Amino acid sequence: VPERFLERPPGTYTWIPFGGGTRRCLAASYAELEMKRVLRTVLGEVELRPADSDSEHARRSAISFSPDKRGRVVAEPRTPDPRPRRAEPWQPSPIYS
Ligand code: HEM
Repeated sequence: VPERFLERPPGTYTWIPFGGGTRRCLAASYAELEMKRVLRTVLGEVELRPADSDSEHARRSAISFSPDKRGRVVAEPRTPDPRPRRAEPWQPSPIYS
């Protein structure tokens, strides 16, 4: 969800990335879950910072807005997290193997 909706959830017609009505994206929940997982994994490994120091203007792109200079970022490896990671990776229950 875009930052501007963190404190107040979007209204029905203010954020419609998955369309709306009876033809709304069938996999909207799945797509959001996957995006969260990907972001969490990537951001656990690297830290992102803006490539340019000055703030970027928005430009219109069809019916939406996008960063004027494509929102370039620099990804740097995160310093290792000293906290212990989850002990064991998830294993399927014996009933499935
Ligand atoms: C970020 C990811 C996605 C976005 C932004 C997105 C967006 C959309 C949009 C805008 C529509 C058209 C809604 C309309 O016509 O009103 C749509 C339809 C649809 N999407 Fe997605 N979608 C995403 C991912 C997926 C995935 C991963 C699947 C399947 C695994 C999927 C399956 C479908 C299907 C089956 C429809 C047609 C629904 C219908 O016509 O009844 N979408 N999606």
